[in-house]
Amino acid sequence: MFWLSASDNPYADNRQILVPYSDSMKAVLKRGGQEAASRPSGYTMAAGAFGNGNGGAISGNLIVAANTESNSDYIRNVKAAGLPVHPVRFPAALPETFIKFQTRLKDLVFEPFGGSLTTAAVAEALDRRWVASECMLEYVRGGQLRFPSAKAA
Ligand SMILES: C[S@@+](CC[C@H](N)C(=O)[O-])C[C@H]1O[C@@H](n2cnc3c(N)ncnc32)[C@H](O)[C@@H]1O
Repeated sequence: MFWLSASDNPYADNRQILVPYSDSMKAVLKRGGQEAASRPSGYTMAAGAFGNGNGGAISGNLIVAANTESNSDYIRNVKAAGLPVHPVRFPAALPETFIKFQTRLKDLVFEPFGGSLTTAAVAEALDRRWVASECMLEYVRGGQLRFPSAKAA
């Protein structure tokens, strides 16, 4: 994933995408932090370091998300409408991570390659405004079924 910004100071807050602490970190928190120790690097760890819980750990660069959706409302509704199921949808966790990380409530999310409107549906669920473009009308019509209250295109 590339993260491009039109400004030098884009909004980003990794506290919005914390992940659960590991068992070893939970143990550190439980005992009130690290014991004082000198590290091989020369850094001296103060007693109690890393003793404050912050609700979760900073997530890594790797997003682990299965792409195995096979029984969703989207698929059922698209098939029932006689429309093609988009063949290369990505997992909702992908846009969800970036939308939470880099936008605030009511911000505008633009998806230039809308496909089945996965990004749009995630943006809507996260209370962001969104705009999507897609060159295949039948994919837009299928994606529209993710929004039951939307008027037909
Ligand atoms: C990889 S798919 C996106 C799938 C989407 N993320 C989802 O989960 O459904 C890329 C989409 O971009 C569309 N596309 C390709 N070139 C385009 C263009 N120039 N303008 C608008 N849409 C385009 C394709 O038709 C295709 O549906």
